[in-house]
Amino acid sequence: MVDIHCHILPALDDGANSLDEALEMAEMAIEDGITHVVATPHANSEYRFDSDVVQERRNELQARLGDRLKLGTGCDFHLSVENLGKIRASPTKYSINQKRYLLVEFAELAIPPAADEVLHGLQLLGLSPIITHPERNRLIRSQPERLWRWLRQGCYVQVTAQSLLGKWGESARKQVEEWLDQKIVHFFASDAHNATRRPLRLGEAYAVVAGRWGEPTAQALFRENPLAAFEGRALAYEPEVPPAPLRKEQSVRRRKRFFFF
Ligand SMILES: [Fe+2]
Repeated sequence: MVDIHCHILPALDDGANSLDEALEMAEMAIEDGITHVVATPHANSEYRFDSDVVQERRNELQARLGDRLKLGTGCDFHLSVENLGKIRASPTKYSINQKRYLLVEFAELAIPPAADEVLHGLQLLGLSPIITHPERNRLIRSQPERLWRWLRQGCYVQVTAQSLLGKWGESARKQVEEWLDQKIVHFFASDAHNATRRPLRLGEAYAVVAGRWGEPTAQALFRENPLAAFEGRALAYEPEVPPAPLRKEQSVRRRKRFFFF
């Protein structure tokens, strides 16, 4: 399996605290059957992203691991005005292995009204935005039409493996299941932050996906698509986007109208 989103590099953000913890996370990944990991430190108001330091830490960790686990670099890119200014000057500084795919994170409490244009702007820079863990964002869950617009304009969706296991609550779990049914998920990733509460593991979620949605789907979401992103290639699994679901209040309104007539 290939993990495109995790905070394994030591002392850069709220992920691994030390090289020892990073090594523990790496051992956990190897044991779980993970072959490639993209280290994606945060770039937000709390954590500054310095691509040279990221490369240095990655090289240090890679040297300790040898060829047992292949490490790449990327960024958990927060959509802020400051970040958008920086990425325009250097588009591949933040992308996965400095190629075309970029992890994009929305704030929990407010999605900018111009999000469609902002994402389009990233695409014009030659980047393919991957919306990270939308199932954990209450705003996106309550306004699915926004996510559908981003999908239609060519963005991708990454969900967190632990969400499917219920670790981010029932709503997030059900949302992932629904989106898997609708075939709008392109990647599973760990978004690991440590070796305990947010571990670098994908195997358990893989087994759930393989059991309910089939082995080829699990292979696509945990290996083929993430490997394509790691290497900067076109995705192997990219089903056509289905019609957007109605918001809850819209479907209630429709039911009431139906009842009235
Ligand atoms: Fe993250």
